[in-house]
Amino acid sequence: MAQTTALTPSPTARRHLATLSLLLTTVMSHSPASAADSTPPALAWTASPAIEEKVSALLAQMTLEEKLGQITQFASGIVTGPTGEKIDERELAATGRLGSVLNLTGADKVNALQREAVEKSRLKIPILFAMDIIHGYRTTYPVPLALAASWDADLAADCAHMAAVEGSAAGIRWTFSPMVDVARDARWGRITEGSGEDPYLGEVFARAWVRGYQGDDLTSPTSMLACAKHFVGYGGAEGGRDYNTVDVSERVLRDIYLPPFKAALDEGVGTMMSAFNSLQGVPASADRRTLTGILRGEWGFRGFVVSDWNSIGELIAHGVALNGLQAGFKALDAGVDMDMQANLYPRLGELVKNGTLKTEVIDEAVRRVLRVKFAIGLFERPYTDEALAPAAYLTPEHLALARRAAEDSFVLLKNEPVAGGASLLPLKEGGTVALIGALADRKDDMLGAWSSHGQQHDVVTLHEALAERLHDKLIYARGVSPNGDSAEDFPDAMNAAARADLVIVALGESRDMSGEASSRSRIDLPGRQLELLKKIVETGKPVVLVLFNGRPLSIPWEAAHVPAILEAWYPGVQAGPALVRTLFGEANPSGKLTASFPRSLGQIPLYYNYFNTGRPAPGADRYVTGYIDDEHTPLFPFGWGLSYTKFEYSPTHLITTKATADEINAGGSIEVEATVKNAGPVAGRETVQIYIRERGTSVVRPVRELKAFQKISLKSGEAQTIKFKLSKKDLSFWNIDLQEKVEPCELTIWIAPHSQGGEPAKMLIE
Ligand code: NOJ
Repeated sequence: MAQTTALTPSPTARRHLATLSLLLTTVMSHSPASAADSTPPALAWTASPAIEEKVSALLAQMTLEEKLGQITQFASGIVTGPTGEKIDERELAATGRLGSVLNLTGADKVNALQREAVEKSRLKIPILFAMDIIHGYRTTYPVPLALAASWDADLAADCAHMAAVEGSAAGIRWTFSPMVDVARDARWGRITEGSGEDPYLGEVFARAWVRGYQGDDLTSPTSMLACAKHFVGYGGAEGGRDYNTVDVSERVLRDIYLPPFKAALDEGVGTMMSAFNSLQGVPASADRRTLTGILRGEWGFRGFVVSDWNSIGELIAHGVALNGLQAGFKALDAGVDMDMQANLYPRLGELVKNGTLKTEVIDEAVRRVLRVKFAIGLFERPYTDEALAPAAYLTPEHLALARRAAEDSFVLLKNEPVAGGASLLPLKEGGTVALIGALADRKDDMLGAWSSHGQQHDVVTLHEALAERLHDKLIYARGVSPNGDSAEDFPDAMNAAARADLVIVALGESRDMSGEASSRSRIDLPGRQLELLKKIVETGKPVVLVLFNGRPLSIPWEAAHVPAILEAWYPGVQAGPALVRTLFGEANPSGKLTASFPRSLGQIPLYYNYFNTGRPAPGADRYVTGYIDDEHTPLFPFGWGLSYTKFEYSPTHLITTKATADEINAGGSIEVEATVKNAGPVAGRETVQIYIRERGTSVVRPVRELKAFQKISLKSGEAQTIKFKLSKKDLSFWNIDLQEKVEPCELTIWIAPHSQGGEPAKMLIE
């Protein structure tokens, strides 16, 4: 079993595959005693007899109160949820009743509280300090949805490592990242925090984030524990409304929502977070079947599960608990090991005393928490070197990485020739440029949601960077903002457009329109932005649209009338320099969408890996699936993204022409290839994608499924043949008997530039 890769994987990919096969042996054994020398370093902690001995010895000395304290987490400092009861954190720490703290940052502050635990408490168990470091601690890089659009997992890993270096300098050893929830509904604000709509891409990025944060050595001072969240199904919220009910079938759960969590586990993730939502009628933070049955039983997870913010207390609102004690009992019994901010686990002693709760259940949770604390070397090195920050932040290397990450995440949605024959992008030197839009000059918005310790004044905006490049050849007008309803700046904007040879319009969403509790019921350009854009386009001046947003938008008018559109997401501190280099062609866009852009809100949920139905569209007849007032296809499909050069694909060619399901189930594989040529004028990078469809199977399979990809660089005129190998991991699915198997079928394979492209090849799997 392996991820599919090209036959010529990069050194990183090779390391990765080797790790994976070793890992399976380790994890499947579930036994610490089976720790083999071959255990990959990132997973050594899951199977270390030495750690287990230390945990047992410590556990044996703990009082019930200390145990309950160890599985309790409180917030301090920044507030990232509804405020709860006030606690005296110093007193709790000094009495050994504070296992973990979230949101307290700064090495001095963290050390001060740590001293209470380590120097005053009876057993001197250090506190584990946590924070939501989602896309950078101080050096803010693009939001995760943007980074996924780079289709460069090593880039994400490098960014995560940078976040770990900076965050650990501030005393944080645990980040609540990555969010690996698959999101098929662009209304859901948290789509910005993940990798988009595809489970395979979700797996690849889950591994990359974990690898980047945790590194090979969890005890390294710059390693940060990762937390795969939110287990499980959170992205499937009905109506895209945050925290809402999720009800997906067992097959969809296993095919779509679970795989990225499993991938994170395979990469050695130390922790997971239980979700807010209910799933198939059971709140995820009280769901024994997923938290214990799947996570521990089927997968052998040996780290610990933390609840989401008061998600244990919320079991009462869900209606499965009548009071806090019941809620705490249900969550712990289900497999939530640490209580974030509900302050319920400390009260569970009462249930032990009256015989309702067995001490062993508490012990198991404590054991998991201590295992992770030992694994990261917290006992040996509980303090943070206070001399590290701020020199660790915003170093030239970090800024260079943030700029590259931004450039690689931009998606060129459209770049059509205008009158005169050429496309507007890249921009030609000379002429006067009007830059219009508040977002071109708003530093805070460039940071996106969850910007941790990111500071507005670290940001270089598009306006600043363009002014540096164009000097008096640039006219800037605020024009319109995504927030509010004012048109008072329209006249200035029109005046600027009239004086310019070309207009760049910067539109989108303000950063608080995506992220947690930021779902939208409309996903078009908010406010009066489209109104101004229409007026500018009417002037007949050439217009380039730059979009800043945290989700797919519905932009049908824009796509039909503006010749060049660059999706910039929220690019982070280096927004301006990255954009200017891209607009002028020093950086060639290579990003591709990882979430479909709809034509209209009514199409949502919209995803490329849908089922064909019995009456597929398009069709000559009226009685096909679709709408009477719009097409059923996306405006820009999953995988879509242009370049300043042009890539041509040969038809997909089968190297393997015969195979049986039995052979593949037993380890066989199918090889295919295609040749990709850079037929355009400049060098560029292309993400070559491979999709499959299986027909004749016991259950319906999607019209296309991404199975692998490879990002390649080609000079102008250069061609490369890319080979892919499909094995059991790629061709199996949860069949009619809910068994993960390859079945005999007709297999269609596309090697393609996006989810609607490519010339397919077909074969039978007998
Ligand atoms: C609630 C969010 O759902 C979760 O992702 C985050 O980690 C916690 N709050 C802590 O801030």
